[in-house]
Amino acid sequence: MRVLVLGGAGFLGSHTLVALAEAGHAPVALDNLVNASARAVERAAGLGGRAIPLVVADVRDAAALERALREHRAEAVIHFAALKAVARSVREPLEYFDNNVGGTVAVLRAMQQAGVERLVFSSSATVYGVPARVPIAEDAPRGAVNPYGHTKHACELLIEDACAAGGRLAALLLRYFNPVGAHPSGRLGEDPRGTPDNLMPFVSQVAVGRRPWLPVFGADWPTPDGTCVRDYLHVMDLAEAHVAALGALEGGGGRAPALNLGTGRGHSVREVVAEFERAAGRPIPTRVEGRRAGDVAVLYADCGRAAQVLGWRARRDLRAMCADAWRFQRENPSGYAAG
Ligand code: UD1
Repeated sequence: MRVLVLGGAGFLGSHTLVALAEAGHAPVALDNLVNASARAVERAAGLGGRAIPLVVADVRDAAALERALREHRAEAVIHFAALKAVARSVREPLEYFDNNVGGTVAVLRAMQQAGVERLVFSSSATVYGVPARVPIAEDAPRGAVNPYGHTKHACELLIEDACAAGGRLAALLLRYFNPVGAHPSGRLGEDPRGTPDNLMPFVSQVAVGRRPWLPVFGADWPTPDGTCVRDYLHVMDLAEAHVAALGALEGGGGRAPALNLGTGRGHSVREVVAEFERAAGRPIPTRVEGRRAGDVAVLYADCGRAAQVLGWRARRDLRAMCADAWRFQRENPSGYAAG
């Protein structure tokens, strides 16, 4: 299938390009490169063994999207292109709604104009807000607690409504838990600009000596070791889930089911640090700080529906996630900047 991957130069997008190419699909990346690197697309092409064109454009530019869809005769769209820093979204809600919701309106318009009917959308476990129970399943109520989460919820509603409108649009809403790790080659990984917001890139920058210590946001949570528990998912498992999602969309129409993507297992911040120390063979200094606003104690997925609908299950464990993240960090200490 010819697939336009929006946000294809970013962390999740670039790994998905490799999985698509390996599965025999023909991906094309589109990215505005605001928080991503053209080098990631070049490297994904090398790993996937085929040329992958990169269109530099903004996801809000419906005319550019339509041109790219027509020019590359796309049959499906995977839409990763979004802003995702929770704290920034609290300060800049307009920017977040404009980019994430406005972007998704433009994507749907361009797809309609170009007659493309298959969409895989990057949603997030953030739409659940504070869970009433874990593991959390897709029928749990949505109740995001920050502007970033509100934008993902709004996009889900928008896509559901677009699918229900009577056309042939078929979509899947994939709700990611905590994607981490890197391609096992060490060539592709996560390379956030500035101070990382998320745990794993922060840990790996401490391990490589770019930062002196990891702040641990609270050690007084009601969990076995007092630190928060999350469902970490290897980015290559996530990438493979997108390949399965394209297959599941074939023939479908008029619906937009949501699927959790996780492992169904929780790990605490301390467990992640200990596993990363083993992978890197060096200690990772930590300092306990206060709780971060908006955090919840424990969140992990019920992945039964993804297994049923996609025939997909995560295969890689926390050890592989840390080993692969470390390999990328060690071999690219300054990320993609150094080439
Ligand atoms: C966060 C966002 C979520 C978003 C996801 C991907 C919040 C509340 N949630 O998920 O909406 O979809 O990132 O971008 O921001 N931690 C530390 N020290 C650090 C960083 C993190 O102790 O320097 C802890 C956090 O308190 C948390 C765990 O590590 O318990 C994971 O944090 P993070 O990687 O930011 O993911 P989430 O908060 O689960």
